[in-house]
Amino acid sequence: MCGIVGYIGNQKASSILVNGLLKLEYRGYDSAGLATIENGKIEVLKDKGRVKNLYELEKKNNLTGTVGIAHTRWATHGMPSKINSHPHTDETNSIAVVHNGIIENYIELKKFLEEKGYNLVSDTDTEVIPNLIHYFYTKETGNDKLKILRAVKNACDKLVGSFALEILSKDYPDNMIVVRKDSPLVIGKGFDEIYIASDIPAILSYTRDFYLLDNLEFAFLSRDSIKFYNNNLEKFQKEATSISWNAASSDKNGYEDYMLKEIYEQPTAIRETIGSRLDGENCNFYELNLDKKYLSSVNQIYIVACGTAMHAGLSVKPTIEKLCKIHTQVDIASEFRYKDPLIDQNTLCIFISQSGETADTIAALKLSKKKKATTIAVTNVIGSSITREADYSIYTHAGPEIAVASTKAYTSQIAMLTLLAIYFAETLDSASKDIIQTLKENLLELPSKIEETLETIDQIKDISKTMFKEKDVFYLGRGIDYATAEEACLKLKEISYIHSETYAAGELKHGTIALIEEGINVIGIITDSNLVKKTVSNIEEIITRGAKTTIVVSTTVSSMIDKSIFDNIIVVPDTSIFLSSIVTVVPLQLLAYYISKEKGLDVDKPRNLAKSVTVE
Ligand code: M6R
Repeated sequence: MCGIVGYIGNQKASSILVNGLLKLEYRGYDSAGLATIENGKIEVLKDKGRVKNLYELEKKNNLTGTVGIAHTRWATHGMPSKINSHPHTDETNSIAVVHNGIIENYIELKKFLEEKGYNLVSDTDTEVIPNLIHYFYTKETGNDKLKILRAVKNACDKLVGSFALEILSKDYPDNMIVVRKDSPLVIGKGFDEIYIASDIPAILSYTRDFYLLDNLEFAFLSRDSIKFYNNNLEKFQKEATSISWNAASSDKNGYEDYMLKEIYEQPTAIRETIGSRLDGENCNFYELNLDKKYLSSVNQIYIVACGTAMHAGLSVKPTIEKLCKIHTQVDIASEFRYKDPLIDQNTLCIFISQSGETADTIAALKLSKKKKATTIAVTNVIGSSITREADYSIYTHAGPEIAVASTKAYTSQIAMLTLLAIYFAETLDSASKDIIQTLKENLLELPSKIEETLETIDQIKDISKTMFKEKDVFYLGRGIDYATAEEACLKLKEISYIHSETYAAGELKHGTIALIEEGINVIGIITDSNLVKKTVSNIEEIITRGAKTTIVVSTTVSSMIDKSIFDNIIVVPDTSIFLSSIVTVVPLQLLAYYISKEKGLDVDKPRNLAKSVTVE
């Protein structure tokens, strides 16, 4: 996955482009580059490394062009290097392209171009694009304004895979062409200037009015106009979407890192997620047209997602089964899409994705539609690719999440899916009014419970100081606590690079306990008072073998246990067991964060990872 930015207006493009890239670095950060048109000539600056290298390059080179494209890369084809960085140009330097996505048939296209005499110099899939455009451009006989657009369209017709493209041509120094297929791209309109980016936060400080391109729609841009063309190059009109977030919600706002800011934003995010869903007597999902007759015909629910979003599904499965009495399965999208799942028109498939751009999740959704299942996307990003594929889309409204490690998206996904379970149960009349009423009250109390939980911060900082040198950490839990432990464990792995594993507490003695030795760190989560004794006795077994233990427990559970046997006890407020993940995960997000800080790592941009994984 990569990030792209574009500008066309009256200001110096290069500095606007670098600023935009800095906001998109979470999408990729192994190389960065930009191209502007300077006196009718394309100038490219690029190098491997972070956007700050490009920033230095930009300062040294006084580019004054007012039209430009830029890119921050997460390598898929070819090592991070200057030559593999974007923008790529054709060999005559008359076309420049930045690309987010993957061209699956690039080897075949490279061969075709080489046979036509083109000399490609990089190891990337992208380089075929400017050369193909150049090839088709030279075949054009007309001399009208749309000659370049036809060449771009002809080139796109040859591409197999995904792409969001910004294209500059030296013959059109006041224009830019953009097009997308299965990779995100937004166009922001200012006054006599146009901004383009992979996502809205990168250009939110310039405009609130955005156009969202659909697959294979082209936009021909001048500083004062945007002309839209469909894949037959017929002109059409598009409505702008206005965004209510402000730029501050995507800035660090005084926090040292985005991750810490986003952890602290969880009370607000949950408030926004719940929003007006609980305003009347019943839980309100006005956008869903799923009545009692339809819901009664559903014989299974599938929740499909990746990473943290999949963990949110694991936490909600018991709630859906308890309230709706419908068998619910949770699957990893990259497994689901290749296993010929047993689903049909009586299956309801729910796809969770913060970004709405995860390739495997979108592919799984398309497969479910083919098999006639009803599909719901739960996402945080308005207009993201997943929302264009699903039968219904529900927005979590957690606000922009920038840190690679997902935090507020996870807790708001659980809150939203719990609301959805309540809505289904109310429609089906499948759960007692008392259970539903208590759950609604617990949902509304969540923001203040999270605020209370955030007060554990000093205790967490102290624990992180004793844990950051560890090589291995184990996480344990039962039921929903096990699902939370999976998420807490992923947080630690991805930002601290400490090896960690999660185990169901009762499963230890079936093999894993052999790994427990003197001094090893084990983190347990216990919130279900009915299961306290069982889980505590599992933890006692590992204490006997020398493990150091930290437990996260609810207030009620803390009053039921012998505290003297544990090294650290983190107490969080009581809530419904169905919402416990939202509270217990918070100190463990903080623990991962402070361990990463103790190790001096880049919390927001962990190695080898990108925020949304738009490739398989
Ligand atoms: O945008 P998505 O929710 O579809 O992303 C899914 C995963 O890639 C994502 O949750 C990933 O696991 C995070 N880095 C975890 O913090």
